[in-house]
Amino acid sequence: MSYRQARWEEPAIWELAPPRPVEAVPAIPGVPERFRRREPVRWPELSEPTVVRHYTRLSQMNFGIDTGTYPLGSCTMKYNPKVSEVLARRAGAAQIHPYQPESTVQGSLELTWRLERLLGKITGFPEVSLQPAAGAHGEYTSLLMVKAHFRDRGEAERRTEVLLPDTAHGTNPASASMAGFVTREIPSKDGCVDLAALRAALSDRTACFMLTNPNTAGLFESEILEIAEAVHAAGALLYYDGANLNAILGVTHPGRMGFDLAHLNLHKTFATPHGGGGPGAGVLGATEALAPYLPVPRVVKQGRRFRLDYDRPKSIGKVKTAYGNFGLDLRAYAFIVAHGEEGLRHIARRSVLNANYVAARLGRRLPRPFRPLVKHEFVLSGVPLKERGVRTLDLAKRLLDEGIHAPTIYFPMLVEEALMIELPETESPRALDEFAAAVERALDDTPEHLRAAPTACAVGRIDEVRAAREPILSWKDQRAAAGAVPPPGPEADPGTPPAA
Ligand SMILES: Cc1ncc(COP(=O)(O)O)c(C=O)c1O
Repeated sequence: MSYRQARWEEPAIWELAPPRPVEAVPAIPGVPERFRRREPVRWPELSEPTVVRHYTRLSQMNFGIDTGTYPLGSCTMKYNPKVSEVLARRAGAAQIHPYQPESTVQGSLELTWRLERLLGKITGFPEVSLQPAAGAHGEYTSLLMVKAHFRDRGEAERRTEVLLPDTAHGTNPASASMAGFVTREIPSKDGCVDLAALRAALSDRTACFMLTNPNTAGLFESEILEIAEAVHAAGALLYYDGANLNAILGVTHPGRMGFDLAHLNLHKTFATPHGGGGPGAGVLGATEALAPYLPVPRVVKQGRRFRLDYDRPKSIGKVKTAYGNFGLDLRAYAFIVAHGEEGLRHIARRSVLNANYVAARLGRRLPRPFRPLVKHEFVLSGVPLKERGVRTLDLAKRLLDEGIHAPTIYFPMLVEEALMIELPETESPRALDEFAAAVERALDDTPEHLRAAPTACAVGRIDEVRAAREPILSWKDQRAAAGAVPPPGPEADPGTPPAA
């Protein structure tokens, strides 16, 4: 199968037809007068086929999990089942409003309550909150809980440090800094936490050690019980970054490993769409000691009724509008219930098998820096490519020409020229073979081709430094950069309501 992405010279929708006032916008009942538009909205007036073709063409210049393999390490890019989409789009789920009276959303509250319990069982924690909107948001919320915990114990002034392994995902130190902690890096030994170095770094200044297990090198931290013991002996807390839960789903859980707090990414393990830092779900689990600090509201069951409980005096408060991203919760609930306990365990086994199958094959072509048996993902080093004047970046770009999303590159940072590959359980044996063959073809390609890639995609090799330093973020800027005069766009719309 050869790949060639569509490349349309597609104008912006505003260039297809200039925006014109559209009178017939129905007023939404119940919206107060002061929030209503004074002027008619201005939209381009186009026929339905024109609009459908416009957006279909744009989608053809995009790549997603529905198009092909997406082996992005530390991301668990699963296929999202369409049945979950159908459920989430039903009016009873998609059209409820967060401020509807509780009596009218009993079904949604019950689903939330049930999902919290299922996730509690999966993580081994007595309480779970669905509020945080992404993994990083879950980390940040947890660290606020860590602070509140030490404030209650009169230790907040002293416990200012968060320790992290050098394999940590970048959001971990970022969240810790944002929460006002000082971060300290703990070195790894053969890809896992160096326990002696951790013991030496722990002190009465340590608030928390943040760890993901399996870690971002795909390795299970087999000294996890000793790690937990050392952290607790120093009076600190152990935080589980649960973005990598796929490999242990239904087999073990952070509660059993001695963690105090955990976030899970529903948009990874539980096959809900990734939101690019936006509409994800970084749900939080906590031990009994830390549960009182979870964000409000909590969903409680009284008899056969469900309600939102704000009466939690120790809670760190609200961290998200409404309760969470209900659409994602619903999809995750459908995924868990459809799989059942044995099905979830199968996911873990299958994702580990997938990673090891492809790692064994590609390990014949590129060095693997750590021990051969991994969990859900594996790391290769592109150092030998340098002898041919190419780099890991070129290999990743060349894979785009095979109709494959690039793997994660240059992470974890302790591996030179790293390529980090994750092929979750939703990838078939055939897809795994096709992926491995595509990498092998790319490795056998000429340095010139590798450096020129991608050539089969809608967008070729871009100047990444310039793109970062001089980003063109709007279609108007893009037209201006191309020397064209942009037509009036949405900014010309005078119908924006005045500030309340
Ligand atoms: C190990 C790990 N932790 C945390 C995160 C952050 O999750 P999010 O992107 O939802 O903020 C990720 C995401 O890639 C991750 O892989």
